[in-house]
Amino acid sequence: MDLKITPLSDGLGAEATRVDLSKPVDGETKARLNAAFSENAVLVIREQDLSAPQLLEAVQLFGEVFRQHNTRFSLPECPLIHYLSNQDHYENGKRYIPGAGYHTDHSNDRTPPKATVLLAKQLPETGGDTQFVNMTRAYEDLPPEIKKRIEGRKAKHVYQSKFSARKLTGLTPEAKKHVPDFVMHPLVRTHPETGRKSLYVNPIRIEAIEGLEEAETLELLDALIDHATQTKYQYRHQWRLNDLVMWDNRCLLHKANGDYDHSQTRYLYRVMLQGDAPF
Ligand code: SIN
Repeated sequence: MDLKITPLSDGLGAEATRVDLSKPVDGETKARLNAAFSENAVLVIREQDLSAPQLLEAVQLFGEVFRQHNTRFSLPECPLIHYLSNQDHYENGKRYIPGAGYHTDHSNDRTPPKATVLLAKQLPETGGDTQFVNMTRAYEDLPPEIKKRIEGRKAKHVYQSKFSARKLTGLTPEAKKHVPDFVMHPLVRTHPETGRKSLYVNPIRIEAIEGLEEAETLELLDALIDHATQTKYQYRHQWRLNDLVMWDNRCLLHKANGDYDHSQTRYLYRVMLQGDAPF
């Protein structure tokens, strides 16, 4: 049977069925999957019971693999694949919920990943959804005076902003060798494939905005995040086992939810795909 693509919400997210990424995929199917990803920004490919090496092979249908920053989550048997688990803890013993709070992945890199891919291996009975917001629509709806204020302005992204409400686990000495101290990226970026403009903000990584005092930076950042994270811009993904979900970090924010029974394990594989320098 041929690949089937079905929209999941108005303007964000599509579901792909009738494809098995553990087997070779023909050129037409590859092109349709890539087009569905570009057009919908979140692509949910159902029923992919893949091992880590199979996942690594499969994602290369969409691009080149990106080396993730925090090597402590790397799988020993397949190091380019990392894992996300609710069974990990901070150094102080507190449970670590990776990805809680809206963000875009690895924006502290010079060329942040265009996409992140998760594969659900173990899920709680309920909860643990991932929320996505459409930063293209959010940008388009901004009042003209705000657009004028942010156009052409850059923000400073670091691994862990001193203003972030969410604390990340520390980088390993090995990871520190590859992660820049800071990078400057525009607040409005143009998607290299669709040509559309999106807001590019990240509350866990932005520590300063060019030409603004600290208080103004925080005020502007809060206002942009409050605007962009309204429900009208959202697609909320309810996971099924073996869902492979990939999203476009260039035009979305996303967040994990820790709203479930933590005696149940939530465990996913994670891999990212190389992107370009935002412009
Ligand atoms: C992430 O932010 O990469 C994690 C998302 C999730 O676990 O739902």
